[in-house]
Amino acid sequence: MRLGSCAITRQDFKCQSSKARRNSKRILEQFTGLSIFHNPVMVREVIQYLAPKDGIILDATLGGGGHSEAILSVLENGFLVGIDLDPAAISYSQSRLVGYKNFRLFNCNFMEMDKVLEKVLILPECQNLRLMGVLFDLGVSLYQIRTPERGFSYQLNGPLDMSFNPFSQIKAIDVLRRSSLPKLEEILREFGEERYYRRIAKAIWLKRQRLSNTKELVNLIESCLLAKPRFIKQKAVQRTFQALRIATNNELDNLFKGLLTALELLSLGGRIVVLAYHSLEDRIVKNTFRLFARQGKLEILTKKPLRPTEKERHKNPYATSARLRAAIKIG
Ligand SMILES: C[S@@+](CC[C@H](N)C(=O)[O-])C[C@H]1O[C@@H](n2cnc3c(N)ncnc32)[C@H](O)[C@@H]1O
Repeated sequence: MRLGSCAITRQDFKCQSSKARRNSKRILEQFTGLSIFHNPVMVREVIQYLAPKDGIILDATLGGGGHSEAILSVLENGFLVGIDLDPAAISYSQSRLVGYKNFRLFNCNFMEMDKVLEKVLILPECQNLRLMGVLFDLGVSLYQIRTPERGFSYQLNGPLDMSFNPFSQIKAIDVLRRSSLPKLEEILREFGEERYYRRIAKAIWLKRQRLSNTKELVNLIESCLLAKPRFIKQKAVQRTFQALRIATNNELDNLFKGLLTALELLSLGGRIVVLAYHSLEDRIVKNTFRLFARQGKLEILTKKPLRPTEKERHKNPYATSARLRAAIKIG
């Protein structure tokens, strides 16, 4: 393999990249006490269905760059573009991927991938390349969950933030404080599919001006279900946090618009792979793929969503709920 003016073997390349990974891990540990940013899910299946070989491959949800690194390791004559709303994901991945030259990272929303692609296509190394693959790995990274200040975790106390972009003007606390009672009920019902949405929404709405951190929110939800078994309380907490996160980041709208943009931008023969972690996301992916397939624009490669193997679920419990869908653009 030739990089710049010096010849580099595949082995050298691997060494460089694992050195960079160790370095980025050290920086992460120094700042957050975490040893890993994220454990990428179903990497083998992602590579099998995305089949990156040449052209531009866009990782719309870069996170800790685990999938991106796997893509770069097999990309022969191509270029990787990574996008993430979280600047921490960009800086971590930038140092993780330092051994590679054929990539660019962008700190923005994946809905803006058309603008990103315009910028990339004028780079000298990309002028003859077409968009041949897009990957979405939805949801939150381990880093985001385990960093209390980000407010995603119901196990660690932190501010009611929950935004993927820490500089966003809209935080979970704003969603709680600005929503009417019917709106709060709708958020918990639609985005959390929570059975006790009415009583939880009412309790939150009554206390909304005094709530300020995740621990207070957990206690409040549990206090609405005092007589219920522990697992029901736990589910209600999980679902309420999921609902608030989806509302704060406008996740489902973003996903639908992001999928439409990706399917429009993909070149003929290009592939799209999506990893979803709950039924609301997966339904949007399934229906969008089917809509494009009926119009003769897409061939669906996964009749049913693929699930992680037992071994992977055991090793990485975060992967348990993953569902992978893939398709090829044909028209
Ligand atoms: C599950 S993580 C991705 C992990 C990654 N595949 C890896 O190997 O480490 C999801 C990432 O998507 C990002 N994200 C979520 N919604 C986004 C959006 N609309 N635009 C850009 N990034 C987004 C989050 O900030 C998070 O870092």
